[in-house]
Amino acid sequence: MSSPSVSTRPAPTAAGRMAAVSEMTRLLRLLFEVERDFVRTASTLVYRVGDPELKYLVCQHVWESAGHARFLRERGRELTSFGTTETVRDPIRRIFTEAVGSAAANPLVLAAGFYEVLKPALLAAYRHYLKVTDPLADWPSKKLVEEFIADEERHLREIAPYRQGVDAREWKLHLTQALDDLGGWLGQETRLPLSASFVWQQDKTPYSHPATCNRGKYPVCSSVFGLDPQEDPIVRPWLVDPKTDARVIRLMVYIWLMMEMDAIDYLATVFIDTPTAPFDLHYDLARHLWDESRHSQFGFRQLPKLGVDLMTVEHSLDLYNILVQMPPHERYAMMTMEFEANSFPTKATVMDRVRELNDFEADTLLAFDRNDEQNHVRYGHRWLPEMMALCGEQRPTEEFVAATREKFTRLAGLYGGRTPHSLPRERRLTGEKLRKLASV
Ligand SMILES: [Fe+2]
Ligand SMILES: [Fe+2]
Repeated sequence: MSSPSVSTRPAPTAAGRMAAVSEMTRLLRLLFEVERDFVRTASTLVYRVGDPELKYLVCQHVWESAGHARFLRERGRELTSFGTTETVRDPIRRIFTEAVGSAAANPLVLAAGFYEVLKPALLAAYRHYLKVTDPLADWPSKKLVEEFIADEERHLREIAPYRQGVDAREWKLHLTQALDDLGGWLGQETRLPLSASFVWQQDKTPYSHPATCNRGKYPVCSSVFGLDPQEDPIVRPWLVDPKTDARVIRLMVYIWLMMEMDAIDYLATVFIDTPTAPFDLHYDLARHLWDESRHSQFGFRQLPKLGVDLMTVEHSLDLYNILVQMPPHERYAMMTMEFEANSFPTKATVMDRVRELNDFEADTLLAFDRNDEQNHVRYGHRWLPEMMALCGEQRPTEEFVAATREKFTRLAGLYGGRTPHSLPRERRLTGEKLRKLASV
C-alpha cells in the first residue's frame, strides 16, 4: 500500500479559499471609487459651461454615475472584502481633482478631459471586468456591468455634439499621462510611470469657483422677479392676483421653472466643497441636481412652444453670485430651508390657476415639480445637520439657518443686483409682453 502523497501546496487559509471573489471585489471597489469621484468632480462643469443643453446633460450623467456607484456598493457589500468605508483612494482622487482644472481653463477643454479620457477609461475598465469575471458565478455583477457599459457608451454618444471644434489635445495628453501611471483605472494595462517633467496643475493652481456662472449666448440680468411689468418678466403680484389671465400665469411659471438653472448652477458647487461627505449625501445631491435640471427643462422646452423667443429671456445670476460667496452648508441651507421650503404656497396658487387651462402637460409638469420639491426639503432635513458638522458648524440647526438667512441678506447687498440687463427693455421679455403673447 502506497503512502498518501504529501502536498506541496501551502496550508489552506480563508483568504486563499476566497481569492477568486476577493479579486473581483477589488475591481468592483475601484469601479465604485471612480464613479463616486466622477460625481464629486464632473459636477464642477455644470456652472462653468454655458450651453443649457450641456448643463442638463452633465447633470443627467452625474446622476447616472451616482446610480452606478450605488449599485456597485450594494453588490460589493454582498461580497467579502469590499470594505466598510467609502473613501476614494488618493491616486484616483488625485486624477479626478486634476481633471477639475482651474477657474481660468476653458470648460469645454475640461469637459473633453472627463469625456475623452477619464470616461472612456472607465468604459475600458468595465469591459475588462466582463472579460475576466466568471459569467455564471458572478452573474449579479455581470448584469450590472453590462448595463453600465451601455450607459457609458450612450454618455459618450450624447456628449459627442458638444465636442466638435474643441482643441483639447494638450489637456487630454496631460490626463492620459496621469492615468497611464496607474495602468488604467483597474491597473489592467501596462503602467507607464510619470516622467519627471510632469507637473500636477492642482499643486500649482488649486481650484476655486468662478465668481459668476456661465450662460453662454443667452442674455443675463440680476433677477427675473420684480414688480414692474415694463421691466420684469415675473411680476410677483400678478402670480397671486385672481384677475391675472391664467395663460399669463402659465408663461410666468415656465420662466420661473427655467430659472431653476440657478439652482443647478449653485447646487453643483457643493459636491467639490464637501470632499469628505458620505456617499449617500452626494447621491441625494446628485438626484437633487438632476431634478432641478429637469425642472429647468420644463420651462426651456415649453416656452418656445408658447411663442417665446428664448433669446429675449434674460437669465438671472443673482442667486449663484451671492451664494458662491458663502460656504457650502450655508448655500445648501438657503436652498432647502429657505427657497424650497417657502415656495409651496405660491406654487399651489399658481397650479390651481394653470388648471383652469385644461393643459394636461402643464399640470403634469407642475405636479412632478411639486413632488420633487417635497423630496428636496426632506433631503435638506436629512443632510443639512451632517453638512454643518462637516464644515465645523456647531450651533443648533434652527439658529444656524436664521443666522444664514441674515447673512444672505447682507451679502445680497454686496453681491446681488450687480448684473446689468443684457437687453434694453424694448427687446427683453417683460410682464407686459407676456400679456400680449398670451392674448394672441
Ligand atoms: Fe425645482
Ligand atoms: Fe428643488
